[in-house]
This record gives sequence, structure tokens and C-alpha cells, in this order.
Amino acid sequence: SPDIPAANSLAHAQQLQTIATANGGNRAHGKAGFKASADYVKSKLDAAGFQTTLQSFTYNGATGYNVIADWPYGDANQIVFLGSHLDSVPAGPGINDNGSGTSAVLETALAVSRANARPTKRLRFGWWGAEELGMIGSKYYVQQLPAAERSKISSYLNFDMVGAKNTRTWGVYTDSSTLGATFTEYFRSKGLATNGINVGARSDHASFKSAGIQVSGISSGDDPCYHTRCDDINNIDSSVLGTATNAAAYALWKLAGIPAVPAV
Ligand code: PHE
Ligand code: ZN
Ligand code: ZN
Ligand code: ZN
Repeated sequence: SPDIPAANSLAHAQQLQTIATANGGNRAHGKAGFKASADYVKSKLDAAGFQTTLQSFTYNGATGYNVIADWPYGDANQIVFLGSHLDSVPAGPGINDNGSGTSAVLETALAVSRANARPTKRLRFGWWGAEELGMIGSKYYVQQLPAAERSKISSYLNFDMVGAKNTRTWGVYTDSSTLGATFTEYFRSKGLATNGINVGARSDHASFKSAGIQVSGISSGDDPCYHTRCDDINNIDSSVLGTATNAAAYALWKLAGIPAVPAV
């Protein structure tokens, strides 16, 4: 898998901070800062050659959005799916929760494009709306998918809170030993500690798990600014975010069967 510079992911997080600052200090469901975040992610993906969809839904009287991106190569019947929630709570800009996961998944997708990857399996990426109100966007996405389409998703990997400062150990959650081992293998190769964590149904992987899809995810752990206004750009560690991005890329390259040297 590629070696993705931490600065790339940090630049996305900085853009999300700028968006929050310009829109009342948050990126919450139903607010202008959320829609601007969705537009930012989608524009980067469109420019990189992804097939993108801005999927809208209604919740609490407001329109919410999921951004979905497909890399149109590989077996369409075997999809490796990476996702993260795009919304913040109303209290702050939500840069660790979850500008970090948003940026890690976005930068992994952009690395796929830069590599001009031709994977064995198909790659799909999702940025979910209204997670903070109960995984509303990801539930909507899974529920509106026909059963035949759901069954094509081989695995779903979730990235929520992956940029905390003072990370001493990486939390890995999974209901599949293969997926969990893939993340653990990456961290071990970098000399980083891991621990198994149970986040229950507190993030979007739960929407996929409910549909019988194998899921896993990572988290960088404790965040003193969790769900407060200090969850801003100064609340994340660029090197931690870079590690999360490269863990995502490692897992994607391995699980989807992306050749180290792409076919010309
Ligand atoms: N970020 C989640 C939330 O606020 C909680 C969570 C933490 C989920 C760590 C997964 C891992 O909604
Ligand atoms: Zn949260
Ligand atoms: Zn979160
Ligand atoms: Zn550091």
C-alpha cells in the first residue's frame, strides 16, 4: 500500500475547520456547515475520477446527506467499503469527531486514484450524515439498498475519532477476526500498540452489522474535547491522523487485492 503523507489528511481537516468557522462554528446535521462539508468531500472525489452520489434524507425536519463514491473497477459483486461520519455535534467543529475519520477515508480514496488502482474487488467509500443523532444517514443508506445489493458488500470498515493527541494504543473493534487482524497487523508493523475495544452500536459500522455485513473499525482513544467546542484543529495530532490514514490504506489494499504495482 502507498505511504500517504500525514500532511495530506491534515489539509482536509484544516478545510473542515475553515468550513465550520465560516458557518457558525459547527458542521452539524441540518446546518450550513454540514452541507459545505459534503460539498467539499464530493468535489475532491469528483475531480479524482470517482462515481459519486449525494444521497439526501430527511430527519428532524432537516435535509441530511450521505456522500457515496465508487471506484469503477474490480468485481462489482465483492465490495470493500470504507466509511466515516461527516457530521459534528452542534457544540463545535468536530475535527477529531469526525473530521479525522472523514479526512482519513477521503485521503485513502484519493490515494486509490493517484495509484490508478485496478483492484480485484470493488471499492466503495461513504461519508454519513446525522450519525450524532443515531447513525441516521448510514441506517438510511443500508435500508434503502436492495437485499441483492447489500449482499455484494464483503466488508465495511469504520473510521470514527482517529486523530486524538496522546494516543498510546490503537483501539480495534470488529466482529470478524480477519478484518481485526488486518488492522492489528498494520499497527504492529509500525511498532504501535493495539487493544480490542467494544464500541457497541455507537457508530456507523452498526448499520452494516445489522444487515449481516462483516465490520471492523479503529479509534485513537480518549479525547478531552469530545463533543465540545474545543474539538477543533488544535485538538488533533497530524501524525496520529496520518497513521490512521495509512492503516485504512493498508487494509483496503490488502482486502480488495490491489496489486503493489498497478497494471499499465
Ligand atoms: N464518535 C462516536 C460518537 O460520537 C463515538 C465513538 C467513539 C464511536 C469511538 C466509535 C469509537 O458518536
Ligand atoms: Zn460524536
Ligand atoms: Zn463520532
Ligand atoms: Zn505526534
